[in-house]
Amino acid sequence: METAQVMNTQTMRPPVADVAGVPRYDAVYRVLHWSMAGIFITAVVLGFWASLLPSGTSPRRELLVVHKSLGAMVFVLALMRLTYRLTHAPPAYPAVFSRLIRVASSVNHWVLYALMLAMPITGYVNSAAGGAPLQWFWLFDMPRLLTKNVELAHLSKQMHAALAWAVYLVLAAHVGATIWHSAIKRDGTLARMTGRGGPAR
Ligand code: HEM
Ligand code: HEM
Repeated sequence: METAQVMNTQTMRPPVADVAGVPRYDAVYRVLHWSMAGIFITAVVLGFWASLLPSGTSPRRELLVVHKSLGAMVFVLALMRLTYRLTHAPPAYPAVFSRLIRVASSVNHWVLYALMLAMPITGYVNSAAGGAPLQWFWLFDMPRLLTKNVELAHLSKQMHAALAWAVYLVLAAHVGATIWHSAIKRDGTLARMTGRGGPAR
């Protein structure tokens, strides 16, 4: 199906880039998205793996050093992404997207932005208030902004683990929707974020 070129209705600006009829995310969006995707997914896998291992043992200790270091990078990248998102409108949705798909996609994206901040914050509070190591890789110690507080450490640990379930669900919906749009509907959704290729025309 032909996708129409449309103006962004919120800003009345033309799409950021437009190849093969699909409005694309610009290069800054794409670099931030894919570096975040790699770091975030690796952090999730290492955190889940570490949670299966007994406290104080190897390789849990080492996995958590890398997990926490990647988590800190997610936090910094998330602040950069949010700043860019709030100052640069994303490309308009393709005209073929129904209202339901637009709303579902937008909710999914904002929940992901919230999780990119909430996961590092709850993880950091857990380790900082729990007196656990806070080293950035094997290079230096990250600042410890909290004094020891067993209750706070316990609460933030529960929040981190509960929010992890939200991450699994929302990320599965995000990647699942991309596969559905790109492989089945063939509407060029993945191409919006890769900047390459396009829909079957
Ligand atoms: C293999 C993994 C991933 C794939 C295939 C993927 C794919 C995509 C695609 C195709 C879009 C554009 C959606 C559109 O057309 O509107 C997008 C947007 C987005 N993705 Fe991903 N993504 C992945 C991983 C992630 C991860 C790990 C995160 C964050 C934790 C994330 C956060 C976002 C956000 C927030 C947007 C919306 C950007 C905006 O409009 O502000 N993605 N993703
Ligand atoms: C993007 C950021 C982060 C993501 C996506 C993330 C994700 C996860 C996940 C999925 C788990 C397994 C949850 C479970 O079932 O218990 C976990 C565990 C853990 N995370 Fe994170 N995390 C992030 C950042 C951080 C940070 C910044 C820290 C600390 C500075 C941290 C500390 C921990 C610790 C200590 C555990 C092990 C919990 C336990 O089993 O005792 N995380 N994380």
